[in-house]
Amino acid sequence: MLSLWFVGAICLGIFVFQRLSSPVAKLPGPWYTRFTSLIIKYHEFSARRRIFIHWLHQKYGPIVRIAPNEVSFASLDAIREIYASGGSGYDKTEYYDLFRQFGTKTMFSTLDKKSHGERKRQLADRYAMSNVMRDHVSAIRERAKSFVSECAAAVKSVDIYVYLHCYALDCVTNFMFSPGGLNSLTNTNDFELMEELTYHQSLQINLLHYYLPQFVPYFPSWLMPRRAPKANDYVHRVTAQKSPDDHTLVSRLTRETSSLTHLQIAAECKDHMAAGIDTTGDGLCFLMWELSQPQNMEFQDCLYKELCSVTDDTSIDRLPYLDAIIKEALRCSPPIPMSFPRYVPRGGRTIDGEFIPEGTIVSCQPYTVHRLNEQIFPEPDRFNPNRWLEEEGLHERNRLFFAFGTGGRGCTGRNLAMTEMKVLLHEVYSRFRTTVAPDMNGSMEIDDQIISSRPKGQTCKLIFTPRADKLS
Ligand code: HEM
Repeated sequence: MLSLWFVGAICLGIFVFQRLSSPVAKLPGPWYTRFTSLIIKYHEFSARRRIFIHWLHQKYGPIVRIAPNEVSFASLDAIREIYASGGSGYDKTEYYDLFRQFGTKTMFSTLDKKSHGERKRQLADRYAMSNVMRDHVSAIRERAKSFVSECAAAVKSVDIYVYLHCYALDCVTNFMFSPGGLNSLTNTNDFELMEELTYHQSLQINLLHYYLPQFVPYFPSWLMPRRAPKANDYVHRVTAQKSPDDHTLVSRLTRETSSLTHLQIAAECKDHMAAGIDTTGDGLCFLMWELSQPQNMEFQDCLYKELCSVTDDTSIDRLPYLDAIIKEALRCSPPIPMSFPRYVPRGGRTIDGEFIPEGTIVSCQPYTVHRLNEQIFPEPDRFNPNRWLEEEGLHERNRLFFAFGTGGRGCTGRNLAMTEMKVLLHEVYSRFRTTVAPDMNGSMEIDDQIISSRPKGQTCKLIFTPRADKLS
């Protein structure tokens, strides 16, 4: 019996020694994170990881140990090293396996840089700004007009959360599959597909699959990730269509020289479709909610004045106030606000002046990067688009703008998303003033999902009042 205690004490001693002698143990952070990852996991399961990490950064500074093998950073130096060194930064962790589609790897869920680069070369040029502006902007404008018609037709308040998700879905599917794009703003069947993709709660189930992969075969059916049969059927159908328009994503992926199988193409497209709905839809929703607050009417008026100067589709990309409004909304409520985890490569690396051993999981989260340094972002929780118009410090602010990630694995759809947002905001705010509706009782608190976030109440009711001096 005594020898058992002795062996136990030796094992415990070795464990404590190993944990305390790791370079990660010397970094700032709560004492218990030297020994266990249970606390961060608890916060993950209760959808509070982002808030917990932010709190730790406020307490300990730009470098925080959050588990024995995991460190969070919030500085420009760290962003550059982790996400952009050598072009694409460090390899992704297995966390991204959760984003496989049809059991198949996509560009987003490919972990290593080499395979990722190959896939990216096959499709990235479709997302170039010149292509978006040349081939897609008029279709985006049509959908923005449909959005405005739906909102203007509402007798009292209108739930923009619903219509913005329809708008984002219609734009992205048209971009990828035209003429097979969806019209969920006007078609009931397509609307059901939007609902299937938007209204779900799968954070905890996905985390269980990530942390307990060996038990997955024994999970009961209610612990299986949600199914999306309508969306899956749709993607299989449109990726098999005979002659998609030349400028679509699917035409690029299915061209004769493509080495991809049908399943790989369907998986890639499903992933971009999913990536394009909640991000743009929720980003716009948070933005319009902020603009509709009584104290922010002055921002709406400035925007309105600027939008009066727009003469054609190309000039929409050169509007400083519109840009400032979008950036500020994405700064305050980044649609993907949580950590983007990466592995430190072989041999270890020095990040923000600290040596971090190989295999450590490192990350930055936009929510904190956009708030921590109050010299660069004074009053960080206040929605204030004017901060982006001040010359002084603009360079630093731009360098810390992290809503789309950065480097070779940053957001591929950024130009498409920005165009969708700009066109929609032009259609709305050149003709209407929006205010919060009296019957709006849902919470607009940021609610974290598996990687993105959304308004907690999944509803956002506004009133659209036509501007007396409305533009034609
Ligand atoms: C406001 C809207 C959007 C935001 C804020 C956003 C944000 C991001 C971020 C932060 C990443 C990197 C995540 C990581 O490293 O873990 C990412 C990747 C990606 N996004 Fe977006 N996104 C938006 C819209 C879109 C749209 C409209 C599409 C496509 C239709 C899209 C497609 C992608 C793809 C394919 C990747 C993976 C890139 C790669 O691995 O190389 N996104 N996005």
